[in-house]
Amino acid sequence: MNIRFDAVPPLDPKVAAFVGGKHAMLIGSAWLPAASGQSLDVIDPSNGRVIAQVPAGDRADVDLAVKAARTAIDGPWSKMVPAERAKLIWKLADLIDANVDMLATLNSYESGKPIGDSRNGEVPFTAETFRYYAGWVTKINGETMTINAPGDWHAYTRREPVGVVGQIIPWNFPLSMLAWKVAPALAAGCTIVLKPAEQTPLGALYFGKLVQDAGFPEGVVNILTGFGETVGAAMAAHPDIDKVAFTGSTEVGRLIARAATGNLKKVSLELGGKAPTIVLGDADIDMAVAGASSAAFFNAGQSCGAGTRFFVHKKIYDKVMSGIAERAEALKLGAGLDPATELGPVVSQQQMERITRLISEGRNDGAEIVTGGARAGDVGYFVKPTVISRTRPDMSVIREEIFGPVACAMPFDDEDLDRLAKDANDTEYGLAASIWTNNLGAVHRLAAKIKSGTVWVNCHNFNDVTMPFGGFKQSGWGRELGEQALQLYTETKTVAIRLP
Ligand code: NAI
Ligand code: MG
Repeated sequence: MNIRFDAVPPLDPKVAAFVGGKHAMLIGSAWLPAASGQSLDVIDPSNGRVIAQVPAGDRADVDLAVKAARTAIDGPWSKMVPAERAKLIWKLADLIDANVDMLATLNSYESGKPIGDSRNGEVPFTAETFRYYAGWVTKINGETMTINAPGDWHAYTRREPVGVVGQIIPWNFPLSMLAWKVAPALAAGCTIVLKPAEQTPLGALYFGKLVQDAGFPEGVVNILTGFGETVGAAMAAHPDIDKVAFTGSTEVGRLIARAATGNLKKVSLELGGKAPTIVLGDADIDMAVAGASSAAFFNAGQSCGAGTRFFVHKKIYDKVMSGIAERAEALKLGAGLDPATELGPVVSQQQMERITRLISEGRNDGAEIVTGGARAGDVGYFVKPTVISRTRPDMSVIREEIFGPVACAMPFDDEDLDRLAKDANDTEYGLAASIWTNNLGAVHRLAAKIKSGTVWVNCHNFNDVTMPFGGFKQSGWGRELGEQALQLYTETKTVAIRLP
């Protein structure tokens, strides 16, 4: 398997100037270094080289950012009428589109994902998410109630912004995770302290410039860079943050929920997954092979919805497995910024080590490595796309979120839907699942039995801004996207009036 290193075009001078410039955090209207003076390295995962340094903030910076956000929500932001706020959010979406080259390049440079996925997928999706929520700003309304008590009453509800929100996002989709959180919070009228992941702060910092260019009042969006254990933990525990929204590991989700108990801030969590991919005997094999491969390998498997546990009918198992293996072997590995790359590196040395450790555990547990099974090359953080067969439900490759380009499979031999659902549900997670079949009855029966926030049929990893996304069980609390995300960022107030 060859990895191409020589085909990365030179950075556009504008992008190079931004990456190589001095980075600061957006607090109120100011760009500031960390109060402590500390910084952290941003690394190109295709070669392990340091490409930039950003401030490593801590509690003192969180205090400042929260003050700025509080001042903004008590001041200009809450005084703006919805139509004005909607216009600003729409303008921000236009600026995201206008800066697609910059944002896509930053996104792929720091995360390692293929540039086409950033330019044609993630960045346009980011803009679309802001536009979708710009449309909601003028449509967030309360209700009037008809009262049962005797006498004359007028009762109604108001939907008010929850307040200052802390948003902690991961590195796997740095810009769309930003949009999923920031856009509905802005639509609801909240102000924001945002912390991008330490691996991928550059796109978020550039986004901060666009927020300023769009003309948002100062303090509406504040962006802090730094480590989760410092900045993130201080946000989760902060007494003047009203709500924390988090996407990342289940382990850190638990820490955040615990830290939030101090002031009982509202919490929403989008955590890990271990999506079952169920291929029934009648499935269109070509479609299932293409879909299952992409479920496992898209974004180098670094997706909370990634297809990781394949249950494939025995009569097509060998064909499906060899089809997926063939596709895995044909993937072109390379740096995210090489336009020919189909599979980039994983984000960090730590993730690469975690993935290869889990693969080795699978091998030691007796699973069969059909293809891949190791690091690719010795530069950067590449993992060979891997297909693992003969897995058992007790193996760590089946139990733990691998978050790498790894498909694990097991055959089943009769289409007892209750048993299939039981096997699919045999996990602490419940984020997503996919079913591959044209059997309408089986689709609806299985979709009802599977305990997960999303069930895809003849598709996988399909997200649309209109469709709520989130987890059952230990995959999280709450739903992002769609109208439901507005629930996360609004409080309902009941006003009951006895008419004199
Ligand atoms: P992580 O959960 O540690 O990091 C995600 C975000 O949380 C980052 O912004 C990080 O700075 C922040 N964070 C870390 N510790 C924190 C703390 N104590 N308090 C507040 N914020 C904190 O995830 P990590 O370590 O990068 O990846 C480990 C595993 O987590 C992955 O292998 C994968 O299984 C899972 N993960 C799941 C994601 C998803 O989309 N659901 C995204 C990223 C990771
Ligand atoms: Mg971590």
